[in-house]
Amino acid sequence: PEFSILVIGGDGIGPEVTAEATAILDLLSAHPKGRATFNLLPRLFGGCSIDKYGVSVTDEVLETGRKADAILMGAVGGPKWDGMRHGFEGPEGATLRLREVTQVYANLRPCEYFAAGNSPLREELVRGTKFIVLRENCGGAFYGPKEETSDYASDLWSYKRSEIERVTRMAAHLAISKASPKKTVISCDKANVLASSRLWRKVVQETMEREFPDVEIVHQLADSATTLMMMRPTLFNGVVLADNTFGDLLSDLAGVIPGTLGVLPSACLADIPVQKWGDKPIKGFYEPVHGSAPDIAGQGIANPIGAILSTALMLRYSFGMEEEATAIEKAVNLTLDEGLRTRDMKGTASTTEIGSTIRKTLLEL
Ligand code: NAI
Ligand code: MG
Repeated sequence: PEFSILVIGGDGIGPEVTAEATAILDLLSAHPKGRATFNLLPRLFGGCSIDKYGVSVTDEVLETGRKADAILMGAVGGPKWDGMRHGFEGPEGATLRLREVTQVYANLRPCEYFAAGNSPLREELVRGTKFIVLRENCGGAFYGPKEETSDYASDLWSYKRSEIERVTRMAAHLAISKASPKKTVISCDKANVLASSRLWRKVVQETMEREFPDVEIVHQLADSATTLMMMRPTLFNGVVLADNTFGDLLSDLAGVIPGTLGVLPSACLADIPVQKWGDKPIKGFYEPVHGSAPDIAGQGIANPIGAILSTALMLRYSFGMEEEATAIEKAVNLTLDEGLRTRDMKGTASTTEIGSTIRKTLLEL
């Protein structure tokens, strides 16, 4: 089959890291044993689109994103466009609009400890950590109606049963999949004080009991989850499920474990991940967790691993190409084991050196 992918390099280091990710897709397309070809559709988006077209995203790009099987993005924004930050007209507005047209309701961030990392946490504490943070991404306090005056402000933090059910199902599917080291879902909420959390906990529990009786479900208060995640991160091995607000905090916190933003991938999914090769692709929006890093842009020293691992997530979740995804992850780990690292991991390698070594390693697997 042929899969179409909207490719957004974006701003700052975005195009530098995205180039290393698309080079892997090109390699797979051209490989004699390759199972699929990838039709890459590169487009301007964010700040660079403002400079060229006067808008952060054109209708043509939104339409391309709506039709594509998946989207791969670098990062957008930077000091040049900071004045427009808060409106839909700024670079971040483009991302929000693209998320909207693709209807991705779950944001997923795998967090794994890399022995080659730069974790501020003690090695013996983080060794063996492997979990996925799954954040509900379309509801809760971020999207509820807002009121704002100079003396009063409110955000409505509400959830519907159906919104909780669908993200719980996704968490359970992930917990059963090879990407999770344990068949466990750890759901984080504040059911002791928030009504929306009480519904959350009840619906998560009911859905798991009814539909996934063989997956373990643990409920954890979100505040103590933060302490535990830093003190005993392996306790979270499995899938960490949370609503939009708590998921936002927990997924950023999880970034402490590998010690650099540069290696963390993310995915936003519009449906339960593809279970096996040959199933109809599901739409996903994939990007590294980091931003456009204007402080190091243009120097060729950005870490491309977050972008490369995001591509592995795309192969796994949108296309059901588990073997290829695992191979990429393995090639990344072998490259780090060899001692090749960018500056954020206390090394001296360039973006392209890391990218080409990962590709070379991948071909040798
Ligand atoms: P950032 O993630 O761009 O940078 C934070 C720090 O991490 C910087 O010191 C940077 O050099 C370093 N860093 C980030 N990615 C790296 C990589 N791949 N390799 C090596 N070092 C890396 O976050 P910051 O500085 O808060 O934001 C910069 C711009 O990026 C802002 O305009 C922000 O709005 C935008 N941004 C965009 C995102 C997106 O497009 N999804 C996400 C986060 C920020
Ligand atoms: Mg955040």
